[in-house]
Formats: sequence, structure tokens, C-alpha cells
Amino acid sequence: MNQQFFAVSELSKRFGGLEAVRAVSFGVQPHEIVGLIGPNGAGKTTVVKLIMGLLRPNGGRVVFRGMDITGVPTWQRVVQGITGTFQNSRPMRQLPLIANVMVGLYNPRVSRQGEWVKTVQARALDALEFVGLSDLALSPAGELSQGDLKRLEIARAIATNPDLLVLDEPFAGLSQAETRLLATSVHRLRKGGRFGRLHSEGCAMIIVEHKLSELMRIADRILVMHFGELLADGPPQQVVNDPRVVEVYTGQTAGQPVQEEPE
Ligand SMILES: Nc1ncnc2c1ncn2[C@@H]1O[C@H](COP(=O)(O)OP(=O)(O)O)[C@@H](O)[C@H]1O
Ligand SMILES: [Mg+2]
Repeated sequence: MNQQFFAVSELSKRFGGLEAVRAVSFGVQPHEIVGLIGPNGAGKTTVVKLIMGLLRPNGGRVVFRGMDITGVPTWQRVVQGITGTFQNSRPMRQLPLIANVMVGLYNPRVSRQGEWVKTVQARALDALEFVGLSDLALSPAGELSQGDLKRLEIARAIATNPDLLVLDEPFAGLSQAETRLLATSVHRLRKGGRFGRLHSEGCAMIIVEHKLSELMRIADRILVMHFGELLADGPPQQVVNDPRVVEVYTGQTAGQPVQEEPE
């Protein structure tokens, strides 16, 4: 096998007495789309934050292109090619969408050269176009619907041209039609190509999502978390038929008849 593109090994995070993430290990291949599912409180967002460098693990490692990046700060991970979106988006509400995307691309080295504004503005606009928000580029972010905010988050992330994109519930608050549209765009991102002036080599993705049908459609692999642990890791069809996964989602042991009332 080639050098590991991305992996977490034995990753653990405690909040006081709570073990939110317990010895979680998995790898991601270049251009692979990995779905991360599990009940509320399973530890999915904590894993996302550990990958983005927003939290420090109590144990374990994060490895990107063969390098240990466990202690690397978030901004440096973005430069290296890892970025993501938050479960709860917090845009600068009074600023227009385009400014919200541009700040994510701020780089003091480039900005000194004067070309920064022009280049970054164009790039931000292309990212907005990719998610279908270019018509609203000059509107304040505070006027956006929940669904559009989700798309703004994705625009901010893809404008940095990531190699690994981590999305925490990107479809939450979107209608079924919006979800399908965004899922198709996201799927397109994997392969890459030219999106206006954005040249994307394509990227791998880790997508946390509750809308399983859309996720099953676009994911190559599904990870299931439960009480901080990784319960299953495999192709979508295999995972949804895994008795342990069925049990977590239905609260019922697969293959067992529904308990009858005693006589
Ligand atoms: N900053 C925090 N401080 C204390 N507990 C936290 C914190 N963040 C998450 N938790 C707890 O860790 C567990 C996992 O949370 P989270 O990763 O958000 O789960 P998920 O995204 O799967 O719903 C939950 O029990 C949650 O309450
Ligand atoms: Mg979460």
C-alpha cells in the first residue's frame, strides 16, 4: 500500500469524567468519501474537532501524508490541506457572503503583494458559485436561511482548496431537494476539476450526517460510532446490515422477534 494519506490511531478525548472518544482508529484514502454516523452524543463532532485541530486529544495520533500532525494548529492544517465545516455555523452576520469566504483565505504573505484582494475575491466568488450562492455574494450573511448558511460554510471550506474536507452535518436544515443538490455538488468535488477559477485536484471527505439515504448514495465507506467507540467500518451496504449497527439504530437485537407481552 502507498503511504497513508490520512489516519487517526487510538484517538481519545475526555471531557472531565466523560470519555467522548475512546481509542478510535481509521484511515482515509485520497479522494475517498467516508461517512461518519452514530446516535447523538456518540462523539462524531469531537472526532471532527480533533481532526481539524480544534481540540487536543488525550491520547492517540492524527497522521496526514505520513506526518504526525497531532500537535499542529488548525490554521497550519488548513495550509497543509485539511479543512472542514462546523455543525453550527457562525458567520459574520453583518458582512456580505463574499467577505465571509475571503477572510478564510487571508494570508499576510500574499496580502502584502497587493494582488491579494483581486485573487482572493475571484476565488471566493467561484466557491460561492460552486455551492449556488453567487447571486447573494453581496448580501449580509445574517439574512441567509439555515440551508444557505450550510452552503456558505462549504464555500468557505472549498475556497481553501483542501485535500481532506471534513463536513459536520452539511445537510442539516436543508430541504430534500436542497440536500440532493448539495450532495451532488459535494460528490463532484471528490474528483475535482475546474470550478470557475478554482482548480481543484479533488479531495477526500469525511461527512458526518444524519440523512442516511443521501450519505449512502455518495459514501464509499461508512463508520459508525456509539458511546465514543468505533462500532463498524465498511462499505455502506455491509454496515447498514451489521446486526450491531441495526441494534444501535433500532434499540433491538437483529434477528430476534419483538418481545411479546407476558400472558
Ligand atoms: N466541550 C465539551 N465539554 C464537555 N462535554 C462535551 C463537550 N463536547 C462534547 N461533549 C460531550 O461529549 C459527547 C460527545 O459529543 P459530540 O462529539 O458532540 O457527539 P455527536 O456529534 O456524535 O452528537 C457528548 O456526551 C457531549 O455531551
Ligand atoms: Mg455532532
